[in-house]
Amino acid sequence: MAKARQWEPLDEMSVTPVLDLRGVDKSFGPVQVLHGAALSAYAGEVTALVGDNGAGKSTLIKCLGGMLPMDGGEYLFEGRPVRVGSPREAAALGIEIVHQDLALCENLDVVQNMFLGRERRSGMVLDEAAMEEMAARTLTGLSVRTIKSVRQPISSLSGGQRQSVAIARAMLWDSKVVVLDEPTSALGVAQSRQVLEVVRRLADRGRAVVLVSHNMNDVFAVADRICVMFLGRTVAQVRASDVTHAQVVELITSGRSGDGVEAGRPVPVHGRGTGPGGGAGRG
Ligand SMILES: Nc1ncnc2c1ncn2[C@@H]1O[C@H](COP(=O)(O)OP(=O)(O)OP(=O)(O)O)[C@@H](O)[C@H]1O
Ligand SMILES: [Mg+2]
Repeated sequence: MAKARQWEPLDEMSVTPVLDLRGVDKSFGPVQVLHGAALSAYAGEVTALVGDNGAGKSTLIKCLGGMLPMDGGEYLFEGRPVRVGSPREAAALGIEIVHQDLALCENLDVVQNMFLGRERRSGMVLDEAAMEEMAARTLTGLSVRTIKSVRQPISSLSGGQRQSVAIARAMLWDSKVVVLDEPTSALGVAQSRQVLEVVRRLADRGRAVVLVSHNMNDVFAVADRICVMFLGRTVAQVRASDVTHAQVVELITSGRSGDGVEAGRPVPVHGRGTGPGGGAGRG
């Protein structure tokens, strides 16, 4: 006799996103640029945030990172409503943002950059040995092998290596969410691939990663989910394996797709390990 089921299997909808922005409005003076925008990000997954120039991606990221106040909407962190009024408050929650311009100091070395503002001390002096060891271990953990010495100044590194240091810096801290704004836009093919591998590893280490990108190949190479913005609105949050390049491009350019993938079903909230979803299409 079949046993009565005592609980329902873990339903997709029951997995709480680490980060969940809903109905975000934002105006600059009289111009409203976000109209109920939304973004959810899940631990262990890469969520690509895509949209045409001016769609509102950076504005939404700035609201997420506490650089801009939201005019309206909900901000949930691990399921709880929070108020993120400054970058410091975002960092305290465990949100790290790797900006497009990176904000690394050229004249400082890898270790100094990774610990900038959060240096380790042993009594009154900096604990250089411990910081060096942690920096090297973090880079190795992300399989960044091309940086010869953590005592190299940033100015001696390639674009891809710099991007890797910036990502490793986010990895070093106990971050839960890492947001990367166009990390490969200035990079060549080989360097981009290297950075995308680091991005993937960041998610595989349990972070919720948000990747802002214009590059569909990058998006389909690493993303588990895709969030599409069009004219300040979020028009789709879908699993990458549920859509084609063409559908995403159509959503980006027109705000909808002919076959209605964006409206087809509720946003699936847990994509890994369930059918072909978990990161299929990563190349
Ligand atoms: N500080 C500001 N003051 C006024 N308007 C702004 C400001 N910042 C952004 N905007 C406007 O808000 C809209 C969204 O800009 P945003 O930078 O968020 O777009 P984006 O999706 O990041 O674009 P891109 O892909 O080009 O980086 C644009 O029309 C932009 O002109
Ligand atoms: Mg932008």
